[in-house]
Amino acid sequence: MMSLLPLSQCVLLLFFFLYMLMILATATELRPGFYAETCPEAESTVREVMKKVMKRDPRNAASVMRFQFHDCFVDGCDASLLLDDTPTMLGEKLSLSNINSLRSYEVIDEAKEELEKLCPGVVSCADIIIMASRDAVVLTGGPNWEVKLGRLDSLTASQEDSDKIMPSPRSTASALIDLFSEFDLSVKDLVALSGSHSIGNGRCFSIVNRLYNQSGTGMPDPALETQYREKLDKLCPKGGDEEVIGDLDATPHVFDNQYFKDLVSGRGFLYSDQTLFTNQRTREFVQNFSSDQEGFFKAFVEGMVKMGDLQSGRPGEIRQNCRVVNRRPMEILIESLDEMNEQKSET
Ligand code: HEM
Ligand SMILES: *[C@@H]1O[C@H](CO)[C@@H](O)[C@H](O)[C@H]1NC(C)=O
Ligand SMILES: *[C@@H]1O[C@H](CO)[C@@H](O)[C@H](O)[C@H]1NC(C)=O
Repeated sequence: MMSLLPLSQCVLLLFFFLYMLMILATATELRPGFYAETCPEAESTVREVMKKVMKRDPRNAASVMRFQFHDCFVDGCDASLLLDDTPTMLGEKLSLSNINSLRSYEVIDEAKEELEKLCPGVVSCADIIIMASRDAVVLTGGPNWEVKLGRLDSLTASQEDSDKIMPSPRSTASALIDLFSEFDLSVKDLVALSGSHSIGNGRCFSIVNRLYNQSGTGMPDPALETQYREKLDKLCPKGGDEEVIGDLDATPHVFDNQYFKDLVSGRGFLYSDQTLFTNQRTREFVQNFSSDQEGFFKAFVEGMVKMGDLQSGRPGEIRQNCRVVNRRPMEILIESLDEMNEQKSET
């Protein structure tokens, strides 16, 4: 194959690889105020976009905050989950946990558009996810914190990695403890971060097993409190529409410790939520957070910062459009060379 390429193209290819090495940065140390000089309005711009989209649809807060989890766990916080599939790459959008479930991608697009107007080519999509997640928490009544920035956007995404890593709503607490520990996240981090389900919704799809056939028993999950189970049975009847959504806690638009109170009273929406109260190793944290909102907030912020530190160490870039990797000048050159060759062979 290579021997068929004319020398000029081989040289070009060589330059292309050298060029890739040169312009693809590897991540530097993350730090607060990373854009203070290069884009001082970055954080306030993202905050304003979040306010706007939450007016349009309050659920956008939850949906955007969930991005941080699904991005950071799969090959680091690198906006890999925002990449659309291409003919040569199956991305993460259609992975088991994300398909028909992750939503509000257009919110990140809106923030990116604003930022590209303001300071083109400066703010990464990966950092937008981190800023917007923090804002989602603040704007729904949760704690505020300083985010570390300076992430790069990935050049690829992997559906396979997402499928392998992201937990199912049927996970047990011990499986979740093991998963989180692979990312250096403690049992406390796991319970606190699960408190993100203080806002947002889940589909009947995610709970019908637990309502009608928990672990193949043909019975509902015994941890479900009876009245709450009856309510869920009405919302999600056997054989009904599994796209119907329910609230993850009793106050789905307010970031508070209601989620933990609900778990204590057997009113967790997902099996993976309720298991945190059933399991001995996680139970005490649930109990404590249910009676100490400040303690929950503090632990949640610690968990979000730790999760935001996850990095793949791979080279990256600042994407212009969060859904696609940038086209490189060298690639454009090679493409036009190919076109020239094709035209030549046609004549
Ligand atoms: C501990 C393991 C976790 C599991 C098994 C899990 C699973 C799920 C599931 C199944 C849903 C509903 C999806 C659907 O039915 O379409 C959901 C929603 C959600 N998850 Fe998690 N999750 C976990 C941890 C987290 C973490 C760490 C965060 C963020 C820090 C998070 C944020 C959210 C949010 C905000 C929603 C609601 C999204 C919306 O309304 O659009 N989750 N999660
Ligand atoms: C419950 O699940 C088990 C195993 O997953 C399956 O064999 C069984 O047919 C299911 N029962 C019902 C009533 O769907
Ligand atoms: C829960 O709170 C009690 C009382 O403040 C404390 O002694 C205990 O260590 C806490 N448990 C956990 C797991 O943090």
